[in-house]
Amino acid sequence: MRPYVVVNVAMSADGKISTRERRQVKISGRQDFVRVDRLKAGSDAVMVGIGTVLADDPSLTVKAEECRTRRLNRGVDEHPVRIVVDSTARIPLEASVLHKGAGKRIVAVSCRADPRKIAELQKEATVIICGVNEVELVTLMDKLGEMGIQRVMVEGGGTLIAGLISAGLVNEIYTFIGNMIIGGKDSPTFVDGDGFILESEFCRLTLLETHRIENGVLLHWKVENAEDKQGKM
Ligand SMILES: NC(=O)c1ccc[n+]([C@@H]2O[C@H](COP(=O)([O-])OP(=O)(O)OC[C@H]3O[C@@H](n4cnc5c(N)ncnc54)[C@H](OP(=O)(O)O)[C@@H]3O)[C@@H](O)[C@H]2O)c1
Repeated sequence: MRPYVVVNVAMSADGKISTRERRQVKISGRQDFVRVDRLKAGSDAVMVGIGTVLADDPSLTVKAEECRTRRLNRGVDEHPVRIVVDSTARIPLEASVLHKGAGKRIVAVSCRADPRKIAELQKEATVIICGVNEVELVTLMDKLGEMGIQRVMVEGGGTLIAGLISAGLVNEIYTFIGNMIIGGKDSPTFVDGDGFILESEFCRLTLLETHRIENGVLLHWKVENAEDKQGKM
């Protein structure tokens, strides 16, 4: 079965997830950091696009020791499986996501990836080849499901999230809105890609909860009829 997919992003009051230089910015505070860490700890896998790896070099590990211990007590690795979506295997071999913290890694590539780079990557991660020019996300999710991954948390960025939403693969979304304006028409937003054109194709959401967290607000959404959106964006 295809995994249940939860997207989590932090954005500015004007919907930007970083600067136009794609430099990582601190949008949320400590309290939200703890919430995100728990969300991660409750997932079987954490997924990002290669753009995020190249910009931020995240480790995608669970930070709180109590959360890691709880995972070990449940009989799973202390960190979720870390997944990078990377059509041409651009990921640097020294990327933190491949080395920091014990546990499994998956790099999903397309047929365009260099077989020599794939062979290098296989020393650090499981490489899944799916898609001709770019990673075919529906096939990838099916393969993850076959591997027993039932719940995936997506940590960005906007291009990967756009691909997942247009493929009808996202079930829930958490957006933390921070108290700043970043601005810039070229600054990435929470969903980039080409966007939907027709109102009938818009991805409709149901608001499940809102919380004030420090000086920002957390919105928790459920995606309506996720599978009807496939291929429309
Ligand atoms: N505030 C937050 O919560 C947050 C979280 C994460 C990231 N960010 C920011 O987001 C920015 C990075 O976002 P980004 O949009 O540049 O990159 P991204 O979404 O992390 O990665 C996008 C890349 O994934 C690859 N990809 C492969 N198959 C794909 C598919 N089917 N659909 C979509 N993408 C596919 C593509 O590169 P290839 O063609 O090479 O495969 C694509 O360019 C950084 O500035 C980072 O700081 C912010």
